[in-house]
Amino acid sequence: MTETLHKVVDELRQGEAYAPFTNDPNIFKKKFYIESYGCQMNFSDSEIVASILHTEGFGPTRNWEEADLVLLNTCSIREKAEQTVRNRLQAFRKVKENSPGMLIGVLGCMAERLKAKFLEEEKLVDLVVGPDAYRSLPSLIAETESGQKSVNVLLSREETYADISPVRLDGNGVSAFVSIMRGCNNMCTFCVVPFTRGRERSRNAESIINECRNLFEEGYREVTLLGQNVDSYDYTNADGVTVTFGPLLEQVALVSPLLRIRFSTSHPKDITDDVLHTMAKYNNICNYIHLPVQSGNTRILQHMNRTYTREWYLHKVQRIRSIIPDCGLSTDVISGFCSETEEEHQDTLSLMELCRFDMAYMFSYSERPGTLAARRFADDVSEEDKKRRLTEIINLQNGHSRESYTADIGKTFEVLIEGDSKRSDMDWCGRNSQNKMVVFPKGGLPLKKGDYVHVTIFSATSATLRGEMV
Ligand code: SAH
Ligand code: SF4
Ligand code: F3S
Repeated sequence: MTETLHKVVDELRQGEAYAPFTNDPNIFKKKFYIESYGCQMNFSDSEIVASILHTEGFGPTRNWEEADLVLLNTCSIREKAEQTVRNRLQAFRKVKENSPGMLIGVLGCMAERLKAKFLEEEKLVDLVVGPDAYRSLPSLIAETESGQKSVNVLLSREETYADISPVRLDGNGVSAFVSIMRGCNNMCTFCVVPFTRGRERSRNAESIINECRNLFEEGYREVTLLGQNVDSYDYTNADGVTVTFGPLLEQVALVSPLLRIRFSTSHPKDITDDVLHTMAKYNNICNYIHLPVQSGNTRILQHMNRTYTREWYLHKVQRIRSIIPDCGLSTDVISGFCSETEEEHQDTLSLMELCRFDMAYMFSYSERPGTLAARRFADDVSEEDKKRRLTEIINLQNGHSRESYTADIGKTFEVLIEGDSKRSDMDWCGRNSQNKMVVFPKGGLPLKKGDYVHVTIFSATSATLRGEMV
């Protein structure tokens, strides 16, 4: 999953969240505020939560100090992610002490991991709700309003929230996340997700396609299909017809040639040639794959229970390059996993040299309570070595990113306009198929968000391309 997922705090865009429901915000009895941390799945879940609260008469606000209900949708993936949430809760303390009616709720993976313990550790929390229990929010809120604290962290084997229309909180109106599955069965030894998100289950294919169609009709031009391991998507309908990821991708692509499709995350053990051929066949399926490698050394990969080898990964990359020659490729890397030697770390660097990723998310190993690694392996690489290895990985990747972006100078790309560039409202920004951000002058033309344009690149940094429309 992507960097936006790991560090961004998103605030609700009030006006846009109201829009699909009513023009009269006065019909809302109360106000809620929600902040999301972690991966795109969490951001997508916050949109489901907003929808559930909306039907209960809660209207959104961007100002937490005036909210009746303040929610943090939390992440447990690394120690630091949890620390950020704890610090945020401290910031709420003063205001909460002076406004007795304010409820504070913790949602998401940290709620699931800590369960009722959260209420003991953080006294100002009233509500703890796990990722599969959001439908119970209205009754839990009712309980807390009568002075109790409430917890629901039951995980489900079926819940996919398939019938709930998310309230789009990210206001660009062009790109939306569509969750296609929940949970994860992979049990990578370092990872807390199988414990916080439960068993893998796929969402009804028809409801996914309908959601994408509705988004297109509302003016959206890009959907990102979300799951921890999208290649193992597998849904059987009431007539016994099974849909796997390749065919699902194809059906979404057929919604409209003007709707771009992205997906995240692919697992190297599961991504198939069938999916690659589907990508190559449809112009509107973006040529971009996020393929987390974690390590370039086979012994460490086995230790992580990734179930592929270095050679398998390199072979997958070679298949991608041969079936989709201009495919953008990014990855995740972990430095200093249990027992990783200096030579094994060098294997990660050499794999990066071979793959030349356009972009990467890089982390040092953070032991998570309850995971297999925490129970069975010693976290024995010193903090100093983890950090130094991570710096080497980051430095190498920065060079590769710069190289990859520079190589685009002179090329022309189709870009979907997402909005004004961050720096100037004289410029548009948008992505190319390979997921690279492109910035270019508006040039006085009557264009708008959601339009496609062709842009020729004339300069590059390691994270942005600049160009001119042609
Ligand atoms: N489902 C995705 C990843 C989800 S978590 C996949 O299988 O690739 C996103 C990334 O966080 C992982 O790819 C991994 O690189 C990183 N990560 C997960 N657990 C971690 C841990 N305990 N310490 C450091 N990084 C971790
Ligand atoms: Fe975690 Fe592995 Fe599942 Fe990804 S595939 S969520 S890293 S257990
Ligand atoms: Fe996502 Fe963090 Fe949970 S990465 S699945 S929010 S632990």
